[in-house]
Amino acid sequence: MSEKNIVMTVAAGGSSLKGQIRIPGDKSISHRAVMLGSLADGVTEIHGFLEGEDPMATLQAFRAMGVRIEGPEQGHLVVHGVGLHGLKPPPRALFLGNSGTSVRLLSGVLAAQSFDTTLSGDDSLTGRPMRRVTEPLVSMGARIDTSSEGTPPLKISGGQQLQGIDYEMPVASAQVKSCLLLAGLYADGRTCVVEPGPSRDHTERMLQGFGYPVEHGGGKICLQGGGTLNAMDIEVPGDISSAAFFMVGAAISECSDVLLTNVGTNPTRIGVIDILRQMGADITLENERKAGAEPVADIRVRGSRLQGIEIPEQQVPLAIDEFPALFVAAACAEGETVLTGASELRVKESDRIQTMADGLLKLGIDAHPAEDGIVITGGQMGGGAVDSHGDHRIAMAFAMAGLRASSPVVINDCANVKTSFPGFVECAWRLGMAVKETAW
Ligand code: S3P
Repeated sequence: MSEKNIVMTVAAGGSSLKGQIRIPGDKSISHRAVMLGSLADGVTEIHGFLEGEDPMATLQAFRAMGVRIEGPEQGHLVVHGVGLHGLKPPPRALFLGNSGTSVRLLSGVLAAQSFDTTLSGDDSLTGRPMRRVTEPLVSMGARIDTSSEGTPPLKISGGQQLQGIDYEMPVASAQVKSCLLLAGLYADGRTCVVEPGPSRDHTERMLQGFGYPVEHGGGKICLQGGGTLNAMDIEVPGDISSAAFFMVGAAISECSDVLLTNVGTNPTRIGVIDILRQMGADITLENERKAGAEPVADIRVRGSRLQGIEIPEQQVPLAIDEFPALFVAAACAEGETVLTGASELRVKESDRIQTMADGLLKLGIDAHPAEDGIVITGGQMGGGAVDSHGDHRIAMAFAMAGLRASSPVVINDCANVKTSFPGFVECAWRLGMAVKETAW
């Protein structure tokens, strides 16, 4: 939990969501923009950067390693790249707060530096599994120590020349893939990563935007070490993972009609749209366009009756961060929704299967967790107090549950909402939600 406990209270349901909001910048793309901009030759300007705590942790880490970064000012950053070999030893351990993406991607970069670094974070981050990145990095020649459980702090010893590898990932993970591709920039020879299924491909797209050749096809992504990155300007689209809360909020409340503008619609991220549509949601994409290498659209969602479904397992990596919101949709749908093949949810910012099941049960919804998924039977949601366990996405998902609850929903431990969605409560107000925040 951050410094202060923030409690969100949503008045009893019955209201609909109406209006238009602009969704803040994509968290995954914001991290990568700062990383690649810092490692490029030349000046990279970034617009639409997410000023949330997670990407800010990445930004502060690069500042601590000598990169001059101006801003952020309303999402605008000017990054004075130092080149792949220009980072300086940070004066102390790099503290990355709640941000798993920062630690996992940075470990790939830092394993190849000439200096030692230590990466640490908050209570949630220091409980998260890191062997998925440290083991393949060690096989590339890195030297990294973790706790005996394989969790942070990571102690990375510099001065190791990495060798390219051919790595088959056991799970589809964009963080593991990106970590190894970043390490591969420094390695002798070729680094190839094979994915068991598609995961978000922002790193590959952005590397190519920075002029770095990346080969991909048939689930294999390869690059050759020893090249350079050339600075570019980046337009960060709105985060579909943040839009997802209001997509679900609108879909579950009668007469809703919302337009979420400027949302990234990269095909590796739109599982939430496909799953909600399979449940019967009324979603249309308008004004489809490109922001640099990334597709973008305005997303219109109208209230509708949802049906429970069996979620196809191949959709899981494409909607991996959206399940807390999707579980709320399932709780409001007719019949049973079954999720399998999603054990990764147990090692996110919280154990998202257990945390959501506990909260839904408190609100009177039948939810049966399994090792790799959950079965949720839709029904009338009651009010009550739930705990987010400091997980931003659990907190925002339960705020949406309040739209259908028969009495107020009180959500405890919500300070981390600002890791990914600063201004969430203001956006909710603008769409007509009766939600208030209290700090203790
Ligand atoms: C992310 C990848 C996903 C996602 C996380 C952000 C990224 O994690 O859950 O929020 O930016 O690469 P995994 O790669 O572990 O699935």
